[in-house]
Amino acid sequence: MPRGFFITFEGLDGSGKTTHLRLLARTLQARGLPVTVTRQPGGTELGDQIRALLLNSQTQNIAPLAEMALMFADRAQSLQQIIEPALASGHIVLCDRFTDSTEAYQGGGRALGSERILELHRAVCGNRWPDLTLLLLPDIDSSLSRARRRNVHQLIEGVDENRFEAEQRTFYERTFAKYREIAQREVSRVVAIEAETPAEATVEAIQERILKVVEERLAQFSG
Ligand code: TMP
Repeated sequence: MPRGFFITFEGLDGSGKTTHLRLLARTLQARGLPVTVTRQPGGTELGDQIRALLLNSQTQNIAPLAEMALMFADRAQSLQQIIEPALASGHIVLCDRFTDSTEAYQGGGRALGSERILELHRAVCGNRWPDLTLLLLPDIDSSLSRARRRNVHQLIEGVDENRFEAEQRTFYERTFAKYREIAQREVSRVVAIEAETPAEATVEAIQERILKVVEERLAQFSG
């Protein structure tokens, strides 16, 4: 591979993106491809500290602009320390969330708007955008109930990543609407995955669709 290939996974909390990212990583690795897996916020020493600060429900009164700036501080570190070196060495980078999350959550959910996020992206990340973004869009209620179940398990294990899940439903409605807006704007980069029927919503069916898209894009990229 001449240069790496950058894939991000996006969606609401509980949308299943982390499960699908891991399944895809396993399949690609089994085919002998070099894969780097990371997530935002987190993945670096600094990023893990930013993650703990931002996601802990004990952290209160973060100004929306401070929240946005911290997401980009994490991203700057992740790009320099993980993503750019991995791409330069020809890896397929699978990243759980990237700037679309900031646009959806801070731009949409916190109502900061897209423009500010995109300007900050240019300042911090330059022209670096994913080659492909897989946006998982199960309906809001099933995403949120899955996220809440997961948080209860995490709390039992002593991990508190509850701050965003404590938001009102209207916050998630704005976030979800912004994700759809991004998908409509970024048609060549973002592939939205939605299930029309319960049969299409199984982990196996969704992973099959994801794999098909990734295989097509990788073939176009190398061909
Ligand atoms: P997750 O890693 O479990 O998906 O959780 C990350 C949380 O942080 C999730 O609620 C979304 C939120 N988030 C933002 O609000 N903005 C961002 O830019 C990123 C990367 C995450």
